[in-house]
Amino acid sequence: MEYNIAVIPGDGIGPEIIREAMKVLDAVGRKYGHNFSYTQVLMGGVSIDATGVPLTDEALMTAKNSDAVLLGAVGGNVGGSNWYSLPPHLRPEAGLLALRKGLNLYANIRPAILFDELKAACPLREDIIGEGFDFVVVRELTGGLYFGDRWTKEVDGLRTATDTLVYNENEIARIAKIAFEIARKRRKKVCSVDKANVLDSSRLWRQVTKEVAENYPDVELVDMLVDNCAMQIVKDPGQFDVILTENMFGDILSDEASMVTGSIGMLSSASLGEGKLGLYEPSHGSAPDIAGQNKANPIATILSAAMMLRYSFDLDMEADRVEEAVRKVLKKGYRTVDIMSPEKTLVGTDKMGDLIAQEV
Ligand code: NAI
Ligand code: MG
Repeated sequence: MEYNIAVIPGDGIGPEIIREAMKVLDAVGRKYGHNFSYTQVLMGGVSIDATGVPLTDEALMTAKNSDAVLLGAVGGNVGGSNWYSLPPHLRPEAGLLALRKGLNLYANIRPAILFDELKAACPLREDIIGEGFDFVVVRELTGGLYFGDRWTKEVDGLRTATDTLVYNENEIARIAKIAFEIARKRRKKVCSVDKANVLDSSRLWRQVTKEVAENYPDVELVDMLVDNCAMQIVKDPGQFDVILTENMFGDILSDEASMVTGSIGMLSSASLGEGKLGLYEPSHGSAPDIAGQNKANPIATILSAAMMLRYSFDLDMEADRVEEAVRKVLKKGYRTVDIMSPEKTLVGTDKMGDLIAQEV
């Protein structure tokens, strides 16, 4: 099969980590007989330098017409740029928001995996880590409090502000469906997180999620209140498979989840919408402090490419293969500087990519 991937290296370490992800994809292509073709797209600071704007209409069109988008990272004050003297809508990060919006991506998927070999980096106690954990946060991305009506005015002589948390049943159903589909490819458990003891929007969330669950009799659904979930993530993370939640709760819980794994250079992410087109990117930024030094950990981007194989191309076996290759290379003791520990072998960005590609 032929797959057309829009590749956005971006700024800072972006080009370095993207190069390694493409290396691994090419190894997958050779092994399984797929043809991955890449179209380079400019976004962020490099696009500002070339075109004056962080994302051109043509660049967005190229992304829209692709089968999937693979992104490094954008932004950061790299090499004395003047990007941050520009108004906010012309800065590098505005390109990312325009891309997400333009592709209508309403689901953000962030796995929190504790790799066996990296247990030392985990801030949780050993008895809590137990057998380790591997769960996914599915966060609604385009509704809820961040997109509701808001105002600030004087009421009864007091400065007063309000934000509104709105969801309709369609918005809830479509994100729930994504969570159940993902659970079906995993351990078949969805934990839907809300605040149904207080919020009307949460009560509707719970009801609609239950209705969607009827189409997935093979997947178990439990409901959990958000304050309890925040505790459970640090108390017993091994209980979770897929956590489904609305925008603000997901913002907070996915950051909490990423920190219990302990290593930013390992965390992948995907943003999905209707259809198969998705945006895949590491959870970290452009790391300007280490850009151009062959130090960046490419694994978050490589694991994002594995998510692309799984969710946009339905190549589950190939995705498994990449994840397994990452585990094997870690097991052999190879480390980039961010995950380095005593008696392990320090390698650069390119060598890490080579090793994982070879393992594939
Ligand atoms: P950051 O994630 O770029 O860096 C935070 C720290 O983690 C730095 O010390 C960095 O060296 C380290 N780090 C990050 N990724 C790493 C990797 N793969 N390997 C080894 N070490 C790694 O976050 P920061 O510094 O807050 O942001 C820098 C720039 O990136 C800002 O302009 C920010 O707006 C942008 N950014 C872009 C994102 C995106 O494109 N999706 C997401 C987050 C930030
Ligand atoms: Mg956040």
